[in-house]
Amino acid sequence: MNFELTEEQLMIRDAARDFARTELFPGVIERDENAKFPTEQVKKMGELGLLGMMVDPKYGGGGMDTVSYILAMEEIAKVDASAAVVMSVNNSLVCWGLEEYGTEKQKEKYLTKLATGEVIGAFALSEPEAGSDATRQRTTAIEDGDHYILNGTKNWITNGGTASTYIIIAHTHPEKGHHGINAFIVEKGMEGFDIGPKENKMGIRGSDTHSLMFTDVRVPKENRIGEDGFGFSFAMKVLAGGRIGIAAQALGIASGAYQLALKYSKERSAFGKEISRHQAIAFKLADMATDIDAARFLCFKAAWDKDQGDNYDISGAMAKSFSATMAMRVTTEAVQVHGGYGYVREYHVERMMRDAKITEIYEGTTEIQKIVISRGILKD
Ligand code: CAA
Repeated sequence: MNFELTEEQLMIRDAARDFARTELFPGVIERDENAKFPTEQVKKMGELGLLGMMVDPKYGGGGMDTVSYILAMEEIAKVDASAAVVMSVNNSLVCWGLEEYGTEKQKEKYLTKLATGEVIGAFALSEPEAGSDATRQRTTAIEDGDHYILNGTKNWITNGGTASTYIIIAHTHPEKGHHGINAFIVEKGMEGFDIGPKENKMGIRGSDTHSLMFTDVRVPKENRIGEDGFGFSFAMKVLAGGRIGIAAQALGIASGAYQLALKYSKERSAFGKEISRHQAIAFKLADMATDIDAARFLCFKAAWDKDQGDNYDISGAMAKSFSATMAMRVTTEAVQVHGGYGYVREYHVERMMRDAKITEIYEGTTEIQKIVISRGILKD
């Protein structure tokens, strides 16, 4: 078994690490406090090639593998989990879905701009009554000549306000259950498409999360992705890959918090020695380091499966499920190691603890990942 990364993968990791330190770190506390989207930073991420990493260069992407993508994701999330989720949605859910299942015309029109970061994408599946139970889509897209007429509401949509290109999941033939669902490319500014106010969130406050409202929006038929009825399958396939990115985001949040706790524990003294020399703290650090390595190996395994063309539904769900709960454990312990300092903004770890929580919720809760894993291992 070869655990060595290639020179190219190491270069990508280092470039993302430098970018995170120099461009994302300054202002990360203020962006969190003011729930400010990292507009300038996301623009630079596009220039650096972080928004379409796995896309074929002929569509403006970096043509990189999934392992490189998760290496970069970890580095970005170590410093700014809000910027990391913008990157994750654009790369995994929007670009990957379009490249894999879009028509040539759709790719030419939308993918290149998304992959270069000229515009940002959003993926809209969740609804007020369809979160975990994603088959219960109430949004409808009814055929009308060369168009579909879209009506309904989507909730908690990442990049909801800043995106220009949206992938919307909607029911075309409600009587067919999940086989009647389709995915559509919808552009900001289409008549009848309204964006609700920004959600005031507990964590990843720099990312913008909105409801989307559709009232008789006319979407051209050529904007449907895949054959009629492919939408639910499309969403599941896209999310299976997205979960690898979120697993790496959780990994990054945890390793950022661990590095801060390690540094602090060597600087702070109590009872006559550095706190890292007290077993109570040293054991916490040992558990945190072990947890992070275990998550990293699961992330690598899932990314490697995807790069080999193997099935990654289970390995991706395992990586996400473990990394997300691990990130909650590690960030909570990082606050504990910092004591009172950990509870105030300047020390970053309280933000990381708030940011970690969403990784147990979005792109399928931890409970949903366990459904995917258990179904996979129980099937004969
Ligand atoms: N690939 C392809 N098809 C798949 C699939 C996969 N990975 N998983 C399921 N399907 C197909 C099944 O084959 C089945 O099709 P057939 O009927 O033709 O056989 C169909 O989908 C329905 O499958 P199930 O019967 O397994 O569906 P279910 O309703 O029992 O549950 C679920 C499936 C896994 C629970 C699913 O509903 C799910 O993943 N829910 C969570 C939704 C989610 O992750 N939402 C995230 C929103 S996006 C987001 O969070 C982005 C962000 O902001 C960062």
